[in-house]
Amino acid sequence: MSTNMLTIVKHPLVQHKLTLMRQVDTATVKFRQLLREVSFLLAYEVTRDLELQTVEIETPLESMRSEILEGKNLCLVSILRAGNGLLDGMLDLVPTALVGHIGLYRDPTTLEPVEYYLKVPNRLDDRILIVVDPMIATGNSAVAAVSRLKEHGATRLKFVCLLAAPEGIEVFSAAHPDVPIYTAALDRQLNEHGYILPGLGDAGDRMYGTN
Ligand code: URA
Repeated sequence: MSTNMLTIVKHPLVQHKLTLMRQVDTATVKFRQLLREVSFLLAYEVTRDLELQTVEIETPLESMRSEILEGKNLCLVSILRAGNGLLDGMLDLVPTALVGHIGLYRDPTTLEPVEYYLKVPNRLDDRILIVVDPMIATGNSAVAAVSRLKEHGATRLKFVCLLAAPEGIEVFSAAHPDVPIYTAALDRQLNEHGYILPGLGDAGDRMYGTN
């Protein structure tokens, strides 16, 4: 694979929870809860290099200089609908982040993304964007989402997913070599319908109990 921009988060808690999520008999409510927990842990990893500023504060005992996050320049962007499952846990960790949504569905025949919704905060050029979608499968939706955000001025982006297929990582990295990807696992391959193997099925359906 021709990218050094891929981080696989191998933390034991992430791997344990992912295994539970993969299992076909894991119920919807449990799946959602696990996804929230995993996204919390992925958020911890992807925000590791956020910049800090030093402020003067008072403890009960004395004054000190201490660090806080610099500004409110973090923006999370969810690729609808499955991205919302990752978004919720990440917002638990960084509640001051602004949020954008981009609606894309995969045309079932061509597997190409079709955009049906876009609402993002202004001044994307000033912000660090973390784009979230549980699956990078063909990579087409991820590429399209990031391209649209770049058209709106975004220059500093990261992509967070739960599972990725090698095919999708190749496609994404070729289109956006500047955007690092964080995932909990890199699976074996795609099947002929564009599903990740061994995967966990359709993330949106698993999350919301649809099919
Ligand atoms: N989207 C999913 O939800 N699952 C896959 O396996 C591939 C794309």
